[in-house]
Amino acid sequence: MERFAIRGHICYSEDQKKIRTVDQGYVVCEDGKSRGVFETLPEEWRGIPCRDYGDKLIIPGLVDLHVHAPQYTFRGLGMDQELIDWLNTHTFPEEEKYKDTEYAKKAYHIFIEDLLHSATTRACVFATCHKEATLWLMEKMEEAGLAGYVGKVNMDRNSSEGLQEESAQKSAKDTEAWILEAADLTNVKPILTPRFIPTCSDELMEKLSELQKKYQMPAQSHLSENLSEIEWVRQLCPKASCYGDAYRLHGLFGGDCPTIMAHCVYSDEEETRMMKEQGVFIAHCPESNANLASGIAPARRFLDQGLKMGLGTDVAAGTSLSMFRAMAMAIQCSKLRWKLQDQSLPPLTVEEVFYLATKGGGEFFGKVGSLEPGYEFDAVVIDDGILRHARELSTKERLERLIYLAEDRQIDAKYVKGKQVLPIEKNCR
Ligand code: GUN
Ligand code: FE
Repeated sequence: MERFAIRGHICYSEDQKKIRTVDQGYVVCEDGKSRGVFETLPEEWRGIPCRDYGDKLIIPGLVDLHVHAPQYTFRGLGMDQELIDWLNTHTFPEEEKYKDTEYAKKAYHIFIEDLLHSATTRACVFATCHKEATLWLMEKMEEAGLAGYVGKVNMDRNSSEGLQEESAQKSAKDTEAWILEAADLTNVKPILTPRFIPTCSDELMEKLSELQKKYQMPAQSHLSENLSEIEWVRQLCPKASCYGDAYRLHGLFGGDCPTIMAHCVYSDEEETRMMKEQGVFIAHCPESNANLASGIAPARRFLDQGLKMGLGTDVAAGTSLSMFRAMAMAIQCSKLRWKLQDQSLPPLTVEEVFYLATKGGGEFFGKVGSLEPGYEFDAVVIDDGILRHARELSTKERLERLIYLAEDRQIDAKYVKGKQVLPIEKNCR
């Protein structure tokens, strides 16, 4: 049995309304799982190895529920268009390049290094429709010590000739081969990834549904992000009662298929009810929704109605891999929505966004996103010493300030499933 403890100023989310802080506390790890947070180390564990991080903060690893690895190359560029034009002008031409596995390796290497040095311990990643490059990304993420799901994207219509797959059959065949080849990985798992309804024919969705049942796979996609997109889906899929129903008709909308849907900016009452009934996870991506002028999702309503939800960076519609930035944007956008659009939905709080970035998104992985007993030991140690201040701050205030001001260089150590993945040996970089 492997046991150790780390010591510092510990913060974690008890629930949506409460952050627990323990100053100079201990969190004990046993075989990759937390045994809990303690003010003093319990008698039975005196003498186990303990690393004292002094005045630094210790938080659960952050969970990015929605990010596109191949889009990291053009982050911060081309932010002058809305969704469909942005896909056609910037996204599809870039993703096309990943059929060249050498290019993909160069690009994914940078993505992985930057993700490793962020506070994110788990991510749900879209790759491209290219099998080889996607497998390479998964293997290297696992080698780096990261955990999560990665999807080989499926798309057989309405995209560029050079990118979209030649038929539903070929797309499904490649997907099955990829699922089998990825089966050896332990911490980075495959997830079915139909890009969104406009780029996936009914035939393809049916084939993915068969694979879902055969391999008991989870799924991820996009939902109700943009008004033109929603209108397009209405035309493409007249049988569906709403956009979400177009996935549900093919068994790819929660229920027996654990599912993440990114955005949900315009999900109406019916779609929201369907997501709740089916246990669909919402990936709320406020920065992306601002950059593509998509709108502001009613995150407050989803939280109050008890939907499952986490935060996503959605790089490269979002510019940054920082989940702190996603938390800050979630608060800021909810304030604008409240002031300008709907005064019945008050802004999100620090407690709520910290919950979403940890326990809320972490639930998709099981017991992830907390330091409470039984949770997988994903932890990040942060040195906020470079943020100078003239008065004493409580641990809770230090966390609150990091939401707005954290930088990757403040991350001192990172653990995933009990294994320390940062810092890495200098000569490994
Ligand atoms: N909808 C379909 N594909 C994409 C994508 O790559 N990014 C975003 N934000 N929305 C999408
Ligand atoms: Fe996306």
